[in-house]
Amino acid sequence: LDNGLVRTPPMGWMTWERYRCNIDCKTDPQNCIGEKLIKDIADKMSDSGWRELGYVYISIDDCWSLKNRDSKGRLQPDPERFPSGIKALADYIHARGLKLGIYADLGTYTCGGYPGTTLDTIQIDAETFASWEVDMLKFDGCYSNSSEKALGYPKMSQALNATGRPILYSCSWPAYEGGLPPKVNYTLLGSICNMWRNYDDIQDSWDSVLSIMEWFAANQDILQSAAGPGRWNDPDMLITGDFGLSYEQSKSQLAIWAILAAPLIMSNDLRTISEEAKELLQNRLLIYIDQDSLGKQGKRVAKVNPLEVWMRELVDEQYAVAVLNKGTDGFPKRFFMSLADLNITKCALGYKVYDVFEQEFLGNVKPETQIQMNINPTGVFMLFVRPASNRFHPL
Ligand code: GLA
Repeated sequence: LDNGLVRTPPMGWMTWERYRCNIDCKTDPQNCIGEKLIKDIADKMSDSGWRELGYVYISIDDCWSLKNRDSKGRLQPDPERFPSGIKALADYIHARGLKLGIYADLGTYTCGGYPGTTLDTIQIDAETFASWEVDMLKFDGCYSNSSEKALGYPKMSQALNATGRPILYSCSWPAYEGGLPPKVNYTLLGSICNMWRNYDDIQDSWDSVLSIMEWFAANQDILQSAAGPGRWNDPDMLITGDFGLSYEQSKSQLAIWAILAAPLIMSNDLRTISEEAKELLQNRLLIYIDQDSLGKQGKRVAKVNPLEVWMRELVDEQYAVAVLNKGTDGFPKRFFMSLADLNITKCALGYKVYDVFEQEFLGNVKPETQIQMNINPTGVFMLFVRPASNRFHPL
């Protein structure tokens, strides 16, 4: 969507995967969906280095509202959990240089059973969000049929535009239609939405991450052309810092998401996150790759069982390459590969090669040089490659 927003994939944080529909602020005030949680996270994002790296969106997912609209037909936040209201929360977030996201659902109810946005309430809801000075809307698709979606998603896009406020518009539409043509029209989506969920919800497990990667690889030719500045495929939230992924698996999710030019939206607890997880999520070279200005989504380019090679072309003849070890037999695999194997041959002077996760310069290599990698089980080896003539130092 050409509204000037997200020329590179959005980065931030969202409640859903970690906090779900926890509305119990009486017994779980730290973790319930309410203004305390959002303010706590905003404080962390602004004082622990996240904002400077680009993590600026803080998004409230489902279960923020009351079960009924107000007398004027507007959605209203639960006053026990959001006693100051959403506008005051947006002010708090803006004062810290961050942006606020909110959630609504095209249908009679949200997925969690809260009031939905039907075709006749799209306009008032768009106006309400703009009046609260919200910066992002995730528009989910439970409890509506395909023809309502075909009307409702474009209609919300127009209604948000009409408010005059730039609001990042995230559409869950394709995820409800199987994610593929002919049911999904990615040309249309790219003209009305800034990003969209294509596939299943992520869960806090390696199996879930694997199944998402597999789906994105299987359909990569369709998905690659859908993505670009202002319009991104969304494989769903980052779960690094939660409970389900090992250190190696966290690296793998981050590497493949960056190759896919995916939004980097965490769902974790920034108040208690480990140093190790924080370091992964704050890896500058990884973020540089994800945020590349060419905006071209990468692909899986080879399978050498149990290894997979994924690659993304970046601006100025630079590349990111990730070799993923899907093996479960418990030992690190050695692998040799040259840049020529990847058709990276244009620069006669050769290339500079970096290990993204070790944040280390590995050396200058010719296209034919064999690069040795050791890849841990369920882990990844990620390279950043740039022409030797390029002086800029990325670390
Ligand atoms: C759906 C969405 C999730 C989340 C929940 C909220 O499952 O795909 O991302 O928003 O609804 O109920």
